[in-house]
Amino acid sequence: MQVNAPAYVKNTQLIAWVAEMAELTQPANIYWCDGSDEEYARLCQLLVDAGTFIKLNEAKRPNSFLACSDPSDVARVEDRTFICSEKKENAGPTNNWMDPTEMRATLKPLFTGCMKGRTLYVVPFSMGPLGSHISHVGIELTDSAYVAVNQKLMTRMGKAVFDVIGENGHFVPCMHTVGAPLEAGQADVKWPCNKNKYIVHFPETREIWSHGSGYGGNALLGKKCFALRIASNMARDEGWLAEHMMILGVTNPAGKKYHVAAAFPSACGKTNFAMLVPPAVFEGWKITTVGDDIAWIKPAADGKLYAINPEAGYFGVAPGTNFQTNPNCMSSLNKNVIYTNVGLTDDGDVWWEGMEQDGGPIPAHLIDWQGKDWTPEIAKQTGAKAAHPNARFTVAATNNPALDPEWDNPAGVAIDAFMFGGRRSTTVPLATEARSWTEGVYMAATMGSETTAAAVGQMGVVRRDPFAMLPFCGYNMSDYFQHWLNMEAKITAAGATLPRIYCVNWFRKGDDGKFVWPGYGDNMRVLKWIIDRVEGNAQGQENLFGVSPTYGEITWTGLNFSEAQFNTVTSIDKAAWTQELQLHTEHFTQLQHNLPPALQATKAQLQARLEA
Ligand code: GTP
Ligand code: SPV
Ligand code: MN
Repeated sequence: MQVNAPAYVKNTQLIAWVAEMAELTQPANIYWCDGSDEEYARLCQLLVDAGTFIKLNEAKRPNSFLACSDPSDVARVEDRTFICSEKKENAGPTNNWMDPTEMRATLKPLFTGCMKGRTLYVVPFSMGPLGSHISHVGIELTDSAYVAVNQKLMTRMGKAVFDVIGENGHFVPCMHTVGAPLEAGQADVKWPCNKNKYIVHFPETREIWSHGSGYGGNALLGKKCFALRIASNMARDEGWLAEHMMILGVTNPAGKKYHVAAAFPSACGKTNFAMLVPPAVFEGWKITTVGDDIAWIKPAADGKLYAINPEAGYFGVAPGTNFQTNPNCMSSLNKNVIYTNVGLTDDGDVWWEGMEQDGGPIPAHLIDWQGKDWTPEIAKQTGAKAAHPNARFTVAATNNPALDPEWDNPAGVAIDAFMFGGRRSTTVPLATEARSWTEGVYMAATMGSETTAAAVGQMGVVRRDPFAMLPFCGYNMSDYFQHWLNMEAKITAAGATLPRIYCVNWFRKGDDGKFVWPGYGDNMRVLKWIIDRVEGNAQGQENLFGVSPTYGEITWTGLNFSEAQFNTVTSIDKAAWTQELQLHTEHFTQLQHNLPPALQATKAQLQARLEA
């Protein structure tokens, strides 16, 4: 098949690969994306014509679209995600594994002719600023125009990427199909997909193959597949970190700026924290967003850890987002947005659960994400949701009014503190500082969190989600822990100060089943204590788990939060922690292959303190 590469595409390996993949998948056409605004508009129109996109009211949401997916294709599919390393032990006990030869044989028939009747889009993208020494290039081949336009917002996508890879530069090949070939004359559906899903990574050859889903991390392959699962392998080999972390800048009234990176599991508050608007009492403080989901972090010659956000846009959770919880996010969503699986109001706007908190009227009628009539009455009777709980928006970072001026800096920003936080209704206190790097790694490695709608499966069950990387670490988890432990010597040997490590939990519940901590903007009160600690201005109090704030060390102005309430979210219950440690033990038993002895030793110390 003729691949008809534009003259500016010079990479011979790329052209040969596209030809080979076209041979395999047999598309009707091949289209090379140039990343222009004109192309974006054209592809969006094509999606409108196909029924995939609904154009929203131009007066209310300029240049914005709504896509509603097939109800079987709404989130990441962890049980269909594979790390196909040569050796099983290198995928580790937390990943699905299949022998790479066997997997290739499984995928071959699935990909043969899978793009019949469709266009193969060649989507060139850079993760990180173009040409930065921290960045990497990927080329996604996809039969989904929805993926192509999302990639335009989520990555640096376009023809300049071909210049970066030149004639023989490296790129990560990202092969994607919705797995719904069209036989001659067959009509298309608005959200083509296939029940047979495979999200496959070959870590040694740095390849991604995705079949059957058009949604989110299953299909936008630059995100979790490349920037975390493949990149974590690159990072281990090359001495850096690829993390499921947001990155923010926090500037104090004196103008001193710090950078904090935080790993919270999927749908546990990274986007919200990255865009935080501080309460009024923090006048003169400023929070700016570097990234909301992924961080690539490299130690530099000065020993400091420099982080970039490899992405250029946000694929964020819509439900729960409103002007009270996240005003910067709401402002980002007023134009040039792709919405997926939210409700469509009768006047061509979008609506989702949580927007009622803004005080506006709840729509008397709308079309829900499944295309059904929705009214508050129907919702009350049947529990029907206007938006799917994992409904998302796709928006370019440049829409964010709080975007950090350094967000595109190829050198990255120096990290002063790491935060790790799960969604725990009990046991885990509001904020704890680790007494050492190793203790911090232990906190992150043993973190538990209640499952959310970001992945298909049971919701609300506590599982271990080490470093918020359980679904995203592309190699053996215990080797990953060791890689983190090794960073300490690298940093200190170069004479730099170790970033401090914190464990936080915004999600403790009271006897009434409600969150006790107000969360959102009020998380600034905890962040301020963290900065105070970094500056040496808060003493904290030591407990068996680490160092925590005293009631008096938190700024309370503007919030009614009694010492009793504070105790509810900070208390350390010995019985609960005895049970928690039992879960750590089970977790470590599962991870025993190559588990760093330092982590076992840390657990033993915790155990001893608990029993003392
Ligand atoms: P991914 O994109 O899946 O990785 O998620 P994320 O970590 O960026 O999560 P996000 O910030 O989108 O938040 C997910 C959900 O948690 C939303 O419904 C938020 O409203 C809710 N949430 C965020 N921060 C807080 C908080 O501080 N307290 C409470 N109670 N809920 C929060
Ligand atoms: C997550 O699940 O952590 C996400 C959404 O950020 S997705 O891109 O679908 O992985
Ligand atoms: Mn995420």
